[in-house]
Amino acid sequence: MDIFKRISAYKAEYEKLAWSGTFKEYIEKLRSDPSPAMTAHARVYEMIASYGIEEVNGQKRYKFFEQEIFGLDRAIEKLVEEYFHSAARRLDVRKRILLLMGPVSGGKSTIVTMLKKGLERFSRTDRGAVYAIKGCPMHEEPLHLIPHELRPEVERELGVRIEGNLCPSCQMRLRTEYDGNIEQVMVERVLISEDNRVGIGTFSPSDPKSQDIADLTGSIDFSTITEYGSESDPRAYRFDGELNKANRGLMEFQEMLKCDEKFLWNLLSLTQEGNFKAGRFALISADELIVAHTNESEYKSFIANKKNEALQSRMIVMPIPYNLKVTEEEKIYAKLIGQSDMKHIHISPHALRAAAIFSILTRLKETKKQGMDLVKKCGCTTARKSRATRKPISRRCKTNIPRKGCPASIRATSSTGFRVL
Ligand SMILES: Nc1ncnc2c1ncn2[C@@H]1O[C@H](COP(=O)(O)OP(=O)(O)OP(=O)(O)O)[C@@H](O)[C@H]1O
Ligand SMILES: [Mg+2]
Repeated sequence: MDIFKRISAYKAEYEKLAWSGTFKEYIEKLRSDPSPAMTAHARVYEMIASYGIEEVNGQKRYKFFEQEIFGLDRAIEKLVEEYFHSAARRLDVRKRILLLMGPVSGGKSTIVTMLKKGLERFSRTDRGAVYAIKGCPMHEEPLHLIPHELRPEVERELGVRIEGNLCPSCQMRLRTEYDGNIEQVMVERVLISEDNRVGIGTFSPSDPKSQDIADLTGSIDFSTITEYGSESDPRAYRFDGELNKANRGLMEFQEMLKCDEKFLWNLLSLTQEGNFKAGRFALISADELIVAHTNESEYKSFIANKKNEALQSRMIVMPIPYNLKVTEEEKIYAKLIGQSDMKHIHISPHALRAAAIFSILTRLKETKKQGMDLVKKCGCTTARKSRATRKPISRRCKTNIPRKGCPASIRATSSTGFRVL
């Protein structure tokens, strides 16, 4: 393979995706296909659906997650149908923060990383194309240029919905650069990219004394403040916080409940009204899916604190439990080995199965049912269909399987122990 030839072909493919034109041309585009005007929530659902959805015995399976997530079919179905799908249809759940809650090493971060990567790839397809006002630090939806009074007519004409206001920076540029001529405003296609900080934001908690709210909402630009003389001049402000940059896509709050509460206040209005307050500006609109993750003990102490009631009411908690199927656990181990430098090393035929059975046993709860011990229970939670008796036992056992698996420490030890293998 000629590496450099491949690289230039790859570059050419990307260059083909570039598009730029006036707002008028963008409107013409929307006339033929209104999908670029979809919300961030719809974009995430469309991305998942674009990989294909299959229904097996009344249960939906999503090809997108099947590549990397094993044994969590029910949890994933609940997550997609109850949150992503409903939010995509603009139901009220989209006004909530999605909180993935589950034991350590249960796959929460993996799910969020998959969503981010999936969005990046989706924005490179025709169906997932994202257009934004050229030069806007928040890659703003161009339809925000349309005055509120005219929106109902435009919405009817184009078959789209327009929510949100122009950001302070675009408002100023519309006045100064374009002299108020909306149709001449330049629009471009943007590609969602975590590296380039387009459409994906990540916030992770650190020392609350040194961490600044500016990490989320942007900050005053001290290099230009003397030039423009006022803190309320958008040119003297950097709209480069994570919430700004995640506009049109996804905002990840890593270990959300470890954050100092001052960082979470902005989320109250962002989730409910779709805007947040930054600097000396009016509320700034943002269209983003907020996904956070945490483990169970932190969630318990969070809900125990009455002060957190407002935030709690704006969350939708999705449990991500441990996998309880031996065959699926084997697939996880095979995946982890495949990702390591040890994939060429021969592993004894039943080693992965033994490790998987061990892990699953640590996650099951003792049952009081006569003649049913943990090993039998473990057998009936595998996906194998070899014995005729399996089905009825399975049904009986379900009620005794703990939803969240074993204490964190056991899972952690078992998975580390396994990796040494
Ligand atoms: N159900 C699963 N299917 C596939 N891989 C899994 C599954 N559960 C865990 N893993 C793998 O285990 C590793 C740890 O998972 P991950 O970091 O996503 O867990 P987490 O829930 O975010 O944990 P923590 O609470 O410690 O942050 C990853 O490599 C992940 O791919
Ligand atoms: Mg994690």
